[in-house]
Amino acid sequence: MTTLHDELIAAIRNIPDYPKAGIIFRDITTLLGSPRAFRRAVDELVDPYAGMGVAQVAGVEARGFILGGAMAHQLSSGFIPIRKKGKLPRETVRIAYSLEYGVDEMEVHKDALKPSDKVILVDDLIATGGTAVAAVNLLRQLGADIVAACFVIDLPDLGGRMKLEDLGVEVRTLVAYAGH
Ligand code: PRP
Ligand code: MG
Repeated sequence: MTTLHDELIAAIRNIPDYPKAGIIFRDITTLLGSPRAFRRAVDELVDPYAGMGVAQVAGVEARGFILGGAMAHQLSSGFIPIRKKGKLPRETVRIAYSLEYGVDEMEVHKDALKPSDKVILVDDLIATGGTAVAAVNLLRQLGADIVAACFVIDLPDLGGRMKLEDLGVEVRTLVAYAGH
């Protein structure tokens, strides 16, 4: 039987020189399009957290929404969208974060969770960790008890995982690529 790791590596498409020369883009659309790989990835991400009373899965726009919705369904929890600025209709808390070029802002509804709610954060990939660290800080501003941050892909050379661990967040990833 194929190991989960090998199956996920086979299901993730590698696009050389995208979005710019020298970068290999790790494209999860092929993983999402594989019924078996998608299910196995979601099952594996949630596996340690079943029965723990996770109240909410919080996904980071955009690719974190796809995984997060499936994970929330699997855990019978709610789902919180962490959105790029200007998309949510009610009162929000907002945080700026660094991208490769410049900064952006993400936000979440103030009433998205209750203080001390157990929350799992999810995104497709962690690289520098700028996005995930901002998301953790945002959720903690609302009083979230962050059980873990989950990602399909880790690019460990970019240091994001360590930044989250330094914040006391448990990090769960399924595949790692050296280099970036
Ligand atoms: C990508 C990826 C993560 C983030 C990781 O999203 O989906 O969210 O970058 O990078 P970091 O760890 O260095 O912060 P992107 O900003 O390209 O947006 P998208 O998901 O909306 O396509
Ligand atoms: Mg993203």
